[in-house]
Amino acid sequence: MKEFPKGFLWGGATAANQFEGGWKEGGKGVSVSDVALFKDPKSMAELLDVHGNCDINDEMIKAALATDDEVYYPKRHGIDFYHHYKEDIALLAGMGFTVYRMSIAWSRIFPRGDEKEPNEEGLAFYDAVFDECRKYGMEPLVTISHYEPPLALAMDYNGWYDRRAIEFFTHYVDVITKRYKDKVKLWLTFNEVDSIIRHPFMTGGLIESRFAPEKFEEVCFQAMHHQFVASALAVKIAHENIPDCKVGCMLTKLTYYAYTCKPEDVLEQQQRMRSIYCFSDTQVHGEYPAYLLARYKNKNLDIKMTEEDLGIMKAYPVDFISFSYYSSSCVAKNAEGAELTAANTVTAIKNPYIPSSEWGWQIDPIGLRISLVDLYDRYRKPLFVVENGLGAKDVVEADGSVQDDYRIDYLKQHIQQMYKAIEEDGVELMGYTTWAPIDLISNSTNQMSKRYGFIYVDVDDYGKGTYKRSKKKSYDWYKEVIGSNGASILNE
Ligand code: BG6
Repeated sequence: MKEFPKGFLWGGATAANQFEGGWKEGGKGVSVSDVALFKDPKSMAELLDVHGNCDINDEMIKAALATDDEVYYPKRHGIDFYHHYKEDIALLAGMGFTVYRMSIAWSRIFPRGDEKEPNEEGLAFYDAVFDECRKYGMEPLVTISHYEPPLALAMDYNGWYDRRAIEFFTHYVDVITKRYKDKVKLWLTFNEVDSIIRHPFMTGGLIESRFAPEKFEEVCFQAMHHQFVASALAVKIAHENIPDCKVGCMLTKLTYYAYTCKPEDVLEQQQRMRSIYCFSDTQVHGEYPAYLLARYKNKNLDIKMTEEDLGIMKAYPVDFISFSYYSSSCVAKNAEGAELTAANTVTAIKNPYIPSSEWGWQIDPIGLRISLVDLYDRYRKPLFVVENGLGAKDVVEADGSVQDDYRIDYLKQHIQQMYKAIEEDGVELMGYTTWAPIDLISNSTNQMSKRYGFIYVDVDDYGKGTYKRSKKKSYDWYKEVIGSNGASILNE
């Protein structure tokens, strides 16, 4: 009888900025996500405007700060986990989760980011959340920064472009790892650390319009350097404060295929993959890969880094590699004439052999196996799939049920490929957390109607609804998968 290896961790993943709500409660400060505007893309052309979806300027921030509106700033209310956490954690535990990935809202602990003293009420909130998880035997896997830099760091310091961000972040890490040393043993430093290139504001607190356009690439890579140093220091601090903990990096696994077998396209694909791998290469090997340094040199990017920085990066590499995987895409040297589609905050060439989600993200379970093999062959360190799922418009039937067979089908196929990667390809995989076990606000469009959960939350794109939770069809299905350690779908 086939099943996953003993001790394999099963669960789901969320992020504070997209579901916690309580944006002005408990002493919390405003984060970059609290000023993110609702988008309702009506066409593929609008979906392809991924930069527009993530872009922001000082005027927009000023306008956001002048209002307490939650309709057009949906991440302010999320699904109100802040007041529902006991009920939500009980529902997650009801599926038999052995791990639950979540994030701490940095601005709940340090409202501006630069304070010396943390906000006790914020710390107490996560104490209660972790206690609740532990009560059900769920291991928390905590992302330290998931699109939640305090807004003040963006406004007053230019976010991660300023070296002082390293100091603020490491102080935050020291505080939370000391406080939760007995409750949290699994940590991730930056969610999708590579995303600073695609949405610099959410990840790096960088307001693009403040910089000269020709300098902005340099600004992003400088901010990224600061994050690398901070991430390495976070590994050091976490290990000192919690000797038995493990700290991972987190990568967006954007898997690209060459659109044709023309050598130019294959080269383009290789280069595109390197633009993602340069992040994990640095965090896993503790040094910049030669190809990234060559890029700096060739493009005259003057990235300031000290010998001490490089020493820190080398001394404290991550313990494991985690990543999100939703879809794959194609790439070509010359995309002219090719049909384009959307992917996770990128525009991609459509692959004629695979279907797409309603948001254009191409559904490719085999791509997950390919990704696992590529990453394991490259690093020989344990992997963790910390996001995988299908965003869809669910329909509530007259009897209140949601028949989300499409979600079951998507997840089943991905889990089956994951199993093959372990059994047939020898990949070492620690666990799997779906995105997201409970409906929440979409990161890229700020829509509520792009739902991922096993648990339906009665709230619409305009924040209207009862916020009542109910189980979808997929809830019992995933419970059975976990309860049988995968056997229920591996032996059909
Ligand atoms: C990942 C992010 O890239 O994709 C999540 O880490 C995000 O925060 C998820 O929610 C799905 O993307 P979206 O745009 O559908 O919410």
